[in-house]
Amino acid sequence: MCGIVSYIGPKQAYPLLINGLKRLEYRGYDSSGIALINNDGLCVYKSKGKIADLEENVKNKNIEGTIGIAHTRWATHGEPNNVNAHPHFNETMDLALVHNGIIENYDTLKVMLKKNGYHFQTETDSEVLVQLIDFMRKKPRTNLLKAVQLALASVVGAYAIVLLDKNNPNQLIAARKSSPLVIGIGDNEYFVGSDATPFLDFTKKVIYVGDEEVVVIPRRGDIMITTLDNTKVDPIVQHIEMDITALEKGGFDHFMLKEIYEQPESIMDTMRGRINVEDCYLQLGGIMDYKEKLINAKRIIIVACGTSWHAGLLGEYLIENLARIPVEVEYASEFRYRNAPIFADDIVIAISQSGETADTLAAIELAKKKGATVLGICNVVGSSIARATNAGSYTHAGQEIGVASTKAFTSQVTLLILMSLMIADGKGILEKNQKKALIQELMRIPEKIRKVLEKAPEIQRMSEVFTFARNFLYLGRAYNYPVAMEGALKLKEISYIHAEGYPSAEMKHGPIALIDKETPVVFIATTPSNHQKNISNIQEIKARQGRVISIILEGDEEIKRLSDFYIEIPDTEEEFTPLISVVPLQLIAYYIAVARKCNVDQPRNLAKSVTVE
Ligand code: F6R
Repeated sequence: MCGIVSYIGPKQAYPLLINGLKRLEYRGYDSSGIALINNDGLCVYKSKGKIADLEENVKNKNIEGTIGIAHTRWATHGEPNNVNAHPHFNETMDLALVHNGIIENYDTLKVMLKKNGYHFQTETDSEVLVQLIDFMRKKPRTNLLKAVQLALASVVGAYAIVLLDKNNPNQLIAARKSSPLVIGIGDNEYFVGSDATPFLDFTKKVIYVGDEEVVVIPRRGDIMITTLDNTKVDPIVQHIEMDITALEKGGFDHFMLKEIYEQPESIMDTMRGRINVEDCYLQLGGIMDYKEKLINAKRIIIVACGTSWHAGLLGEYLIENLARIPVEVEYASEFRYRNAPIFADDIVIAISQSGETADTLAAIELAKKKGATVLGICNVVGSSIARATNAGSYTHAGQEIGVASTKAFTSQVTLLILMSLMIADGKGILEKNQKKALIQELMRIPEKIRKVLEKAPEIQRMSEVFTFARNFLYLGRAYNYPVAMEGALKLKEISYIHAEGYPSAEMKHGPIALIDKETPVVFIATTPSNHQKNISNIQEIKARQGRVISIILEGDEEIKRLSDFYIEIPDTEEEFTPLISVVPLQLIAYYIAVARKCNVDQPRNLAKSVTVE
């Protein structure tokens, strides 16, 4: 995701900022930019692509200056290009701003600003923010600090910002809400970063900016922190002990573990701006033009590969159950070759984290050729699949670096839940109370995932018992069947242990022959509607000396007694269970792979984006 680095002090800012941006490259980005104040005034340079492209762009340009802000952008609003890259500036070009996060009400604010004579050059929500600060600054008795406080008070969403004012080269203003921002205190100099990696060589003394706090960072003297209503806050200075590599991974040993832990936030990011509990409002902006088509669809076909296909299978269960539309789920690689009948009134939904998967792209082209409407669910903004589809919704899970997909999966499922609820609502299937209860429960999911993550040490101890197992079976029913397949895929991808995921009841039609005391069975038994059936299946496994690791709802004493190991997870609506029940499976795969000393983030033979057939 986007990265911020800024500097004010006696040194030349440009080399520090460029090196800082390079340190943030691990976060993923598609463009970068820098703003400096020097003899030429405010100089802003931006480039699509890599930081090397930015360096090329500034050759022979004025890069002098001892104050500057810089940014790596991972597109959310507007495609990755030179114009949409940060820093953004106001119309008179005296303020420049870098921003991480999403301004959810940017549309409303933009309309208001346009009415007040403002013009916009970019499609970004961030440009709206800098213009809004400019607008607020024009109010009587309003200095820049107050303008920032006023602007941020009228913003809904997440932000980490740093602001540069051409007319005051002796001060930076920074602020944050829900998006991290840290200030580095050097020797007569200050740094600002979305994390400390850009400036760790210079200082380990930091201040973590709190939510809804605004910081004035002067060239000389102490920084001043206030809340949005101008109450002073005492800065808390801390010392960082970590080394740089650990910091890039946010202190986690692997990107995969970091991404597993990011799920409460990434799921919130998928929902952000799309639901409102109070008004019972639910909208997916990107596919609004196709809402009626979706509501009236006779058939939906989901195409995807791998983990995204598992999310698609959950999409089938969700859409059929909640919105009562028949759904078929296809491996994109099969769909493209098996001459399936596709009709002009079909809606095809393509799901992809990377947005570059060759088979999924080919399936999209085929569906379009047959006249079907094709919608996308992608994580990477501006990716090939996002561009090839008629419309779509981004998952906004943030960049996923670990090859084994984790947070992208839960964000895809979250988006499919939102889509199913939106269609069901449009069809008048959901009572208002029912809809409200579902939306309220969905908002509780991140907290429930946090509770599962607290069990990581326990899951690690249990997983290590199975370090040398050669085969695993994963079983689940209904919403937990796709989860069983996803758990098995995670394990084989990163630990190289053979694993199969099956619907629990299918066990007796074949896989039961595999069960012996050497074969652990992960049984996902968190759907109360099948409780008794789950118990029978577990007894069948135990009768054959199988070892059962069960994923159960908190307090399910009956299954606890039958299991060799169990992991309790919080209860939720059955439709939302996969978002929680998949988390212990991700952790089991992770800890077994670590115990086997496997390369967790880059497993052998696998690529993050499969651009070949
Ligand atoms: C599994 C995994 C793969 C991908 C598959 C599709 O952890 O990452 O199975 O899910 O290659 O990739 P996307 O979603 O990028 O189309």
